[in-house]
Amino acid sequence: MGKRVAVVTGGIGGLGTEICKHLADSGCVVIAADLASRAERIEAFRAEVAAYGDAIRFEPLDIADFDACAALIRNVQNEFGSLDILVNAAGITRDTTLRKMTADQWHSVLTINLDGVFNMCRNVVDSMCERGYGRIVNISSVNGQTGQFGQTNYAAAKAGMHGFTMALAREVARKGVTVNSVSPGYCKTAMVMSMPENVRTQIVADIPVGRLGEPSEIARVVDFLISPDSGFITGANIPVNGGYFMDF
Ligand code: CAA
Repeated sequence: MGKRVAVVTGGIGGLGTEICKHLADSGCVVIAADLASRAERIEAFRAEVAAYGDAIRFEPLDIADFDACAALIRNVQNEFGSLDILVNAAGITRDTTLRKMTADQWHSVLTINLDGVFNMCRNVVDSMCERGYGRIVNISSVNGQTGQFGQTNYAAAKAGMHGFTMALAREVARKGVTVNSVSPGYCKTAMVMSMPENVRTQIVADIPVGRLGEPSEIARVVDFLISPDSGFITGANIPVNGGYFMDF
């Protein structure tokens, strides 16, 4: 197999950046798709991945826009001949108790975190099935497994994401395409660092390993799942949370 081609949504984000680097280290050409509007973060991303040269590229994308997702995927396929790997890592929070939540706070989180997964997968799934190969990884959250105070919107979207993962995994299992979720716990990202400090301190105290996760510790698992010899893992949800939530 030649160089595999990957698209990572939320590609310039806290987890996304590290995922892009790991996939490039594994020999993939990586397209980091993210909002065009945050010039400073795009520049910081470009600086951080400069050593990778052409192996990592930024492409503007609003994953809330179905047609824009279709266009990006079509362009990648036209340029490289295929799109082998899709990592849905775009996500936002609008934390507040349900009693205070506005319809806008609900819809923004569901649109980005869940509709975004549909918009990307719907546009890539036909070609992966036709070629008989594909790897889709959805970045969910421990809070989709446990619920979290102040996150009815986020927990619903993240739990929904894994339901989506299991259903799609069944639909494409005979076509060489795997679909899995990774559920990170609390990691050192801007999203977690912007939580109220006292809430974060309490959560870290409850994590058995006693610290926040490193984004690279999530990227490592994504890299494992997208490997060509991970074809027997599908419909799974891999927890990476320092023991914060244990299940069997
Ligand atoms: N469990 C139970 N009760 C709680 C609670 C908790 N965790 N937190 C607060 N309460 C109680 C308070 O004691 C308070 O009680 P009283 O009314 O009796 O005084 C009541 O609930 C309301 O609390 P607040 O006044 O603090 O509510 P708020 O509206 O000011 O803040 C919040 C609520 C914004 C949700 C805040 O608690 C918060 O930001 N929490 C963090 C949520 C979180 O973990 N987000 C994760 C972000 S990172 C991420 O999502 C990445 C990932 O995937 C892991």
